[in-house]
Amino acid sequence: MSMTSKSKAVIILPTYNEKENVETLIPLLFDQVLPEIKNWQIKVLVVDDNSPDGTAETVKALQQKYPSLNLIMGQKQGLGKAYFKGMNYAVKKCQPQVLIQMDADLSHNPKLLTAMLDKIDLGYDLVIGNRYIKGGSVPDDWGLKRKFLSFIGNLTASLFLFNWRVKDWTTGYRAIKTKVFEALKKEMDKKEFNGYTWQIAFLNKSLQHNFKVGFVPLNFIDRRIGESKLGSEYIVNTLFYLITDIIKNPPRFYRFALIGFFGFLVNFFGLAFFAYLIKDNWPSLSVGIRNTIANSIAAELSIISNFIFNNIWTFHDRKLVEAKEIVSQFVKFNLSSFTTGILVPSLIIGLGTLILGDQYRQLILVLVIAFFTVPANYIIYNRFIWRNKT
Ligand code: GDD
Ligand code: MN
Repeated sequence: MSMTSKSKAVIILPTYNEKENVETLIPLLFDQVLPEIKNWQIKVLVVDDNSPDGTAETVKALQQKYPSLNLIMGQKQGLGKAYFKGMNYAVKKCQPQVLIQMDADLSHNPKLLTAMLDKIDLGYDLVIGNRYIKGGSVPDDWGLKRKFLSFIGNLTASLFLFNWRVKDWTTGYRAIKTKVFEALKKEMDKKEFNGYTWQIAFLNKSLQHNFKVGFVPLNFIDRRIGESKLGSEYIVNTLFYLITDIIKNPPRFYRFALIGFFGFLVNFFGLAFFAYLIKDNWPSLSVGIRNTIANSIAAELSIISNFIFNNIWTFHDRKLVEAKEIVSQFVKFNLSSFTTGILVPSLIIGLGTLILGDQYRQLILVLVIAFFTVPANYIIYNRFIWRNKT
């Protein structure tokens, strides 16, 4: 069998003061783990930033024994930058199909590589070691504070990026198809990703590019030797990234919510406007009829506004353009708006106050809108009005 039939991968190990850790990790990889992975030809690239502890010297010594061990060195510019440099170098030097990110401090069990590469073979473009799914874990000796920070960090990322499928945004153990890196390379070449923000940004951009992301459970082991380089740079840059990203690429649900809120304002101010207009021109109309007419016009205007802005913005990638299509979907849109926005809430308010009492009227309205109208509209728009044709 010729070597070329195997797919190639490069494990990138960023190091800063990891001398004693690489002394254990590199032999573990070459002697025990990599020989077991038969269908992949795997090389290792250490990206050392001139560690004062002499990590590079140790790696050079190990290179005598392990010919597939490579080393590049440079100035310390952060973890993300080290990955960026390493990936570029690996791609040029070996044209691998897959790039692997792994911490050099033994926090990432190298044995997990098999499961990660198996997922790559199944067709995933990016496979991440996930600490927060069944079978994964964070170290027991992590204090409550660190666990809480990690939880809040992931919650914030999920909230901003509106993705609840990814439970572990920051995880550093990843198998990445080279084509993903090639696609993201230009966008990732930014100062704010030089540090640990690299991880969240890379994962989010992969999702935005519709790459297929898979997960394997990861049991993260706390390092025994040396110390973490994670600093406050991380929080500042990550928040900056999340805020700029939500403005530049608002997730679909947030666009929908914003347009819906705008529609509410159209209805709200439209009601006042038409009520005055009718009062001035037809003073003989009774107040009830006047306001019913005023609100009907204002509500229809808000439906039209919702339809137009959702079409050109929220669902810009599925925009309706043909006249026939626009008309038929607009009819459905009106029907569903009437059902979810008027009919069902009115019935539930009637039934609810009948059972619970009149004092719950407003509360029921708020709850119905939050837990029924909003999600129902979002689902209906996605499935029936602007369905994904691909
Ligand atoms: N070359 C280089 N340059 N390597 C670096 C640098 C740098 O500026 N900063 C960190 N590293 C290396 C470390 O030497 C180690 O091998 C690896 O990157 C991870 O760094 P740690 O400092 O051990 O990170 P951590 O354990 O706090 O963070 C881990 O968990 C985070 C999520 O909670 C890592 O896996 C992170 O990537 C991950 O985001
Ligand atoms: Mn670590």
